[in-house]
Amino acid sequence: MKKLRTAIIGTGFMGRVHAENLRRLPEVEVAAVAGSSDERARQFGNSIGVNRATGNYQELLEDSTIDAVHVLTPNALHYPICRAALEAGKHVLCEKPFTILVQEARELVELAAQTSHANCIQHNLRYYPVVQQMRCMIEAGDLGEILIVQGTYSQDWLLYETDWNWRVDSTDNGALRAMGDIGSHWMDLIQHLTGLGVTALCADLATFHKTRRKPKGPVETFAGKTLKPGDYDSVPIDTEDFGSVLLRLGDRARGAFTVSQMSAGRKNMFTVEIYGTKAGVAWNQERPDEMWIGERDRPNGILVKDPALMYPRAAAYADLPGGHSEGYDDTHKQVFKRFYARVADAAAPVEYPTFEDGLLGMRLLEKVAESSKKQGWVEV
Ligand SMILES: NC(=O)c1ccc[n+]([C@@H]2O[C@H](COP(=O)([O-])OP(=O)(O)OC[C@H]3O[C@@H](n4cnc5c(N)ncnc54)[C@H](O)[C@@H]3O)[C@@H](O)[C@H]2O)c1
Repeated sequence: MKKLRTAIIGTGFMGRVHAENLRRLPEVEVAAVAGSSDERARQFGNSIGVNRATGNYQELLEDSTIDAVHVLTPNALHYPICRAALEAGKHVLCEKPFTILVQEARELVELAAQTSHANCIQHNLRYYPVVQQMRCMIEAGDLGEILIVQGTYSQDWLLYETDWNWRVDSTDNGALRAMGDIGSHWMDLIQHLTGLGVTALCADLATFHKTRRKPKGPVETFAGKTLKPGDYDSVPIDTEDFGSVLLRLGDRARGAFTVSQMSAGRKNMFTVEIYGTKAGVAWNQERPDEMWIGERDRPNGILVKDPALMYPRAAAYADLPGGHSEGYDDTHKQVFKRFYARVADAAAPVEYPTFEDGLLGMRLLEKVAESSKKQGWVEV
């Protein structure tokens, strides 16, 4: 079998997650990696057993033997790298949030539409088997008409003023941090699950640390805890630590969610609750194999992931039998399986989030910023 050859651009947290999960696909080879310097790329390449490593991603785009690239850099680089990759004729999978400006996202959607190449935004949270079960239940009408959605995405890794990452700097990250980083996942998932689009929103954003102490050297995601006092400069902060948003969806559904990177003890708590005219469901990413089912006239239930007990379309997202957990890593694998099916065959179905979804996400983020600035509701 001729393997599809892919390149990883960005050698941090996501570089490793993508490399490891790509290796679970027999039809794909991680052929090369690109980092911010030759040395960093080489170190990362060595750690995952990939020989070809470069500090210049352009070199990999010029290589006609590379079929696809994964764009896993700080957000501000997504646009130039995706653009160059599309122009070089590569299939492109890009991490979220898609870009830092709506206009950039729009341009990439237009450019991608001119090619037959696959394009994907890595909204991997859609791919927990139990999440797909919620989606199937909603589609089948098990919940009735959806009226209420609520939840949070809460983390604590930026709680202290000494916590630093490129995300706190709007130049690398874009204007919205907590909203762009994790709120983008929440808004994508709720629309994916319910099939309802956000029609209006009212957002309130807060930056609790007006200044943060920036380490003098680079720090990769979640790695700031190891630094010592005295290795810092004090810098003003222009991205939010926390946000809350009221939502209107579809014809008459209502909702609300919060995002936070300063909630002590919450490591990666994504929760969603959806209530319809017949029943409700709730899910927490920190207990990924369990779904709560809320009933009015009989006892509530817990569905533990088991493909034998799920809708067949949801069961297709579970590769292991009941009682064998499938978590965060597996969601990436599930996206990659579907993306590379399309890379291999342009007639394969598009069963993954596309650049169009990335553009929608960017438009919503722009509305969140607008609403927070004017302190009122905005139509979407
Ligand atoms: N889907 C998810 O669950 C998820 C989770 C975390 C991060 N992300 C997204 O993934 C992206 C990367 O985030 P991360 O947490 O891995 O950040 P990170 O800081 O850990 O890694 C980013 C890497 O990009 C490298 N880089 C910088 N400039 C580069 C260049 N010119 N060429 C090549 N590499 C370069 C850095 O050296 C670093 O290794 C972001 O867009 C983020 O929003 C998604």
